[in-house]
Amino acid sequence: RLLRDLVGLEIELSRQLNLRKVIIIPGDSEIDRAVRRELGRATAGVLGQYLTDQMVVAVSGGSTMAKVAEAINFSFPATTVVPARGGLGEVVEYQANTIAAVMAGKLGGRYRMLHIPDGVNEETLEAILDGDTNLRAVAEMIKHADILVHGIGEAAEMAERRGVPPETFAKIERCGAVGEALGQYCALPGKIVHVTSSIGLRLDDLAGIGTVIAVAGGSAKAKAILAVVGAGGQDVLVTDEAAAKAIQLLI
Ligand code: BG6
Repeated sequence: RLLRDLVGLEIELSRQLNLRKVIIIPGDSEIDRAVRRELGRATAGVLGQYLTDQMVVAVSGGSTMAKVAEAINFSFPATTVVPARGGLGEVVEYQANTIAAVMAGKLGGRYRMLHIPDGVNEETLEAILDGDTNLRAVAEMIKHADILVHGIGEAAEMAERRGVPPETFAKIERCGAVGEALGQYCALPGKIVHVTSSIGLRLDDLAGIGTVIAVAGGSAKAKAILAVVGAGGQDVLVTDEAAAKAIQLLI
């Protein structure tokens, strides 16, 4: 019965959010570790469905994405995994570079690293890219990835986790940001209000990516999910029952 209800909710939400597909797993990943693991497993399964030979997969950082990488239990050796962005001041386990390496290891594929932190000003980024052809090649691969798998965070929590300067924190709050993805902060119903500079992917690059898969669960992330999905470019959302029901109450 629950599963039947969730299938109905998946169809309804995909229509309301204008997404190709929504996958909802039972439970609340915010309070239940088993549901968290399941969210990772379900997302790994979705990735498996979209993978074909010689693909480039870009991944974001985050604890949810760490679960996705961990859950991969199939090999796809012709895959190259790249980080969607540079480091964002998070613990190394949750950085996109680490998740790309773990995922590539599980797939038996290759990875390329982005050894440049986010938040560096544009001029410096350009100067670094000019002096490093390898880095430019990785940046190009990222912008044209076949698949992007990324997490969604609550704006204030992510700003705090990354230790953004107080003036940036104040700006994010003042602009009403509730969600964050790829270092970009979004307010409802889907307005990007702050962008962390990076040579990696931005939400407005998503049109150039084959398939974009977002993963986030827990009722506390409902507004964040709505804001990021509202900003556009997403194809598939993998979430949990708690977030899905909370989203429904907001729309
Ligand atoms: C970050 C990603 O590392 O993790 C973000 O760059 C994402 O795109 C965030 O919003 C989500 O983190 P978590 O730990 O809640 O999955």
